[in-house]
Amino acid sequence: MRKKNWLTIILGLVFVVLIVSFIMGWPTSEYKKYADNEAKQVASILKENGCLDCHSEQASVPFYGKIPVIGPIVKADIKEGIEYVDLTPLCDALENGSPVTEVDMAKVENTALSGSMPPKQYSYIPIHWGQKLSSDEKTVLINWVKNFRQEHFTSPTVSEEFANEPLQPLFEFIPTDSAKVALGFALYHDTRLSGDNTISCATCHGLNTGGVDRLQFSKGIQGQFGGVNPPTVYNAALNFAQFWDGRAANLQEQAAGPPLNPVEMGSASFDDISAALSVDKVFNAEFIKVYPDGLNQANITDAIAEFEKTLLTPCRFDEYLRGDKNALTAEEIEGYQVFKDNKCATCHVGMNIGGQSYEYFGVKADYFNFRGTGLTDGDNGRFAVTGKESDRHKFKTPTLRNVMLTYPYMHDGTVNSVEEAIQIMGEYQGGKAIPQTEVSKMIAFIKTLTGTYKGELLQ
Ligand code: HEC
Ligand code: HEC
Ligand code: HEC
Repeated sequence: MRKKNWLTIILGLVFVVLIVSFIMGWPTSEYKKYADNEAKQVASILKENGCLDCHSEQASVPFYGKIPVIGPIVKADIKEGIEYVDLTPLCDALENGSPVTEVDMAKVENTALSGSMPPKQYSYIPIHWGQKLSSDEKTVLINWVKNFRQEHFTSPTVSEEFANEPLQPLFEFIPTDSAKVALGFALYHDTRLSGDNTISCATCHGLNTGGVDRLQFSKGIQGQFGGVNPPTVYNAALNFAQFWDGRAANLQEQAAGPPLNPVEMGSASFDDISAALSVDKVFNAEFIKVYPDGLNQANITDAIAEFEKTLLTPCRFDEYLRGDKNALTAEEIEGYQVFKDNKCATCHVGMNIGGQSYEYFGVKADYFNFRGTGLTDGDNGRFAVTGKESDRHKFKTPTLRNVMLTYPYMHDGTVNSVEEAIQIMGEYQGGKAIPQTEVSKMIAFIKTLTGTYKGELLQ
């Protein structure tokens, strides 16, 4: 064949490839047909731009995922994409008007603002042309976040200027019944909740030690150790569920766990606990005044939960968000910006600066391999509750309020300093080593999250 024919064939092929990819990647604007429904526009934008190709457990691998060489890379990105965020529940919620989580909202906001999605390498593949969010689409997403946040997540005490921040100031208080709070306080410190009268809630969640015991694993009845690090009780009322794996829906359900847990407080039953407490005539009489049907599991746990709702710890950062510009130094404000720039505020969100979602730990690299000790039951995370393979190693994001005081860190309690915790977050959740100068700035910010309880700075 002559040279000229080859050239025609090659040019022809290039032309066909370009046409096909042009059609597949042509930006569509289907979303515009939902002009009167912002939420549906957002769902439509996410779908049209192929976000669900990489961020949905239901997604099938696209045809280019089967091409040799590129295929495995695409598959790895889909795996990582899903570990980061599954956008299907978000799209479903947007379409049928059910609640959207604060975390999904913050994640979408972050991608719209940073232009981080789809990952850079895909901008060279013509098939993905249509997936880059256009500036109109970004505007729709950003406006939706602003309105939705205002409606559902903005704190009543936030200043106008900070109403659209991913972090929000604490409630000044949560309404409680003071008589129940007083009983709850007493029960929280009462060792009679344990099988041998040695352990109270406060043993592991000391109010003067940041709401934790500062041990890697808590020491329960007869010196037994549990398998995960205790999270703080301060501000726990603001978490969307309790425990690392979320097995308790709320504080009352949570409080039913430790008293009967054989390695924590080791009581045989709430009947036994009630019997032990009712021997105390004074306490029993007080209790019946507030709970006429007397001592039982429901009432004991209700009182403890009521007390825990008072464990809010307002801090300097709250004052700042409420409008006092002088509450933070320039370095601390910069630290907050660095925190947001590093995407930390997409998981550590809202009023409790965490506690609103389960997140895969080790999206960017294998944390457990780095830790180097064998896997434990505690490492399963959310999987322990759902039995779903995709929930293995997902943990409820911890609050960062008072985090300077709640060492050691992580569900496994293996990390001793906030500095190291931040570096691990950068590497294993964010995929990059955070420069020391940025770490220091973030620590300056994080220190402003140490709050006060009953007017006293926590220790
Ligand atoms: C080709 C696969 C792919 C596509 C398409 C894709 N993503 Fe991602 N996404 C990933 C991967 C991989 C990550 C992991 C983190 C990274 O690389 O930055 C990720 C991370 C994310 C994150 C969390 C981290 C961040 O940067 O905020 C969000 C949110 C996200 N994607 C949203 C989207 C949205 C919205 C779209 C559609 C515009 C989209 N993604 C399209 C693969 C994809
Ligand atoms: C022996 C130590 C120990 C005792 C006693 C104990 N806890 Fe805990 N607590 C823990 C550990 C460890 C966890 C984490 C367990 C997990 O996530 O699986 C925890 C979790 C919690 C949480 C969940 C916080 C969050 O962010 O998920 C709350 C709230 C809490 N405990 C309150 C209490 C109360 C109330 C009592 C008394 C009824 C109590 N604890 C007794 C060790 C203890
Ligand atoms: C994708 C969600 C996600 C992102 C992004 C993220 N974190 Fe985390 N963070 C978590 C989860 C989940 C844990 C708990 C991990 C574990 O113990 O298994 C955690 C733990 C922590 C802890 C330890 C807290 C404790 O009480 O044990 C600190 C400190 C922390 N993160 C800071 C940061 C900072 C700073 C950034 C930004 C550089 C960041 N995180 C980004 C989800 C995230």
